[in-house]
Amino acid sequence: MRRLTLAALLLAAACRPAALRAPEPPPAPPAWEAENPVRPLPRPPLGSGADFARVPWVTPEKARLGRWLFHDPRLSADGTISCATCHEPQAAFSEERPVSTGIRGQVGRRKAPPILNAAWPLQPVFFWDGRARSLAEQAKGPIENPIEMGNTHEGAVRTVAAIAGYRPYFRQAFGDDGVDIDRIAEAIAAYEATRLSGDSAYDRFDAGDEKALSEEAIQGRDLFFGRAKCSACHLGPSFTDARFHNLGVGWKAPPPGRPAAEGFADRGRWEVTRAEKDLGAFKTPTLRNLARRAPYMHDGSMKTLREVVVFYMRGGEENPWLAQDARDADFMPCEVSALVAFLESLEGTGHEDRAPALFPR
Ligand code: HEC
Ligand code: HEC
Repeated sequence: MRRLTLAALLLAAACRPAALRAPEPPPAPPAWEAENPVRPLPRPPLGSGADFARVPWVTPEKARLGRWLFHDPRLSADGTISCATCHEPQAAFSEERPVSTGIRGQVGRRKAPPILNAAWPLQPVFFWDGRARSLAEQAKGPIENPIEMGNTHEGAVRTVAAIAGYRPYFRQAFGDDGVDIDRIAEAIAAYEATRLSGDSAYDRFDAGDEKALSEEAIQGRDLFFGRAKCSACHLGPSFTDARFHNLGVGWKAPPPGRPAAEGFADRGRWEVTRAEKDLGAFKTPTLRNLARRAPYMHDGSMKTLREVVVFYMRGGEENPWLAQDARDADFMPCEVSALVAFLESLEGTGHEDRAPALFPR
């Protein structure tokens, strides 16, 4: 046995020079690849509710490709707008404006929501009015929205397919070079799925670290889940039931004699269902990472968290469709700061990123 090993060693030594004459090293990867390598799927931070086993279509290769596509303005009609123009990484993939501005300076009527823990909603509904049923379906919308990226699906596919540098990454993600709108959308959705938020002071407190929250924030937590009734709608790991409620945001009583429904400039969920009960109802937004994405609400009409909490203290804005749970909030002016402190404790980690410096050419 030992003699054999020795012989094998000698043989290996004799082979050394040949081994040195190894085949040519593979060409260095392009600079854009070195800057955006395939990364393992992130480990979900505490309390985020993220679970990649539940979204087997999310792979590291798709998320890498999607990172480029999400940040690539060439997907828009004139090469100026990417998803990240409105979903800015430093604003928790939301924005610091009241409403979005898209292609050729066109101003929309709603604010871009954050993209955090988005692959695990309690109900599969996306947009403020819930008109998309999956993240990938959602991603197709803005590309052809005339006031967002202003392109057509065919136009975006033609542009991406003509960029030779993208081909290897479509092959790695999907098995061949083919580019179509479903693949573009799925890769973008995979990248979005890797933007997580957890391990906030609140999550650590909830996991047993009693020092993670201040006295004031603990008082706010008790109010949030108790008398203030916030958790009637803001529940689950991302603090949203993914259902639709009317708080009266944006309501202005119409002139006498006009139908009450005209009080809403934006009728929200009603635009999808045409059901009277959905007038002025919007999807409950996540409450994670609120700090750097003011102003708040679907129309960005509230500048600070204090303003939002005071709005709830008054029971929302009275209108014929106001949600009962919003009317029921029961807390006092001296308790506003505690609720704000609690909301500030939901500042999580796991989504941080920046635009890639280089893109496939
Ligand atoms: C011009 C600004 C703008 C651009 C560009 C844009 N979005 Fe949005 N995004 C918005 C706005 C505004 C909303 C809310 C619209 C609504 O509810 O009707 C939204 C909603 C979303 C949502 C739903 C979030 C939720 O909680 O329901 C996701 C996800 C999203 N966008 C992803 C993308 C992706 C992916 C792209 C690129 C393909 C993109 N967005 C491009 C402004 C933009
Ligand atoms: C009846 C359901 C409901 C209740 C109860 C409720 N919310 Fe909301 N919350 C919503 C909806 C829906 C929106 C978005 C409304 C809109 O834009 O028209 C919202 C928006 C918010 C926002 C703004 C988030 C953003 O991304 O702009 C904050 C902060 C917030 N709520 C905190 C609270 C607090 C604190 C309480 C308890 C005092 C509470 N909510 C009670 C449903 C509810």
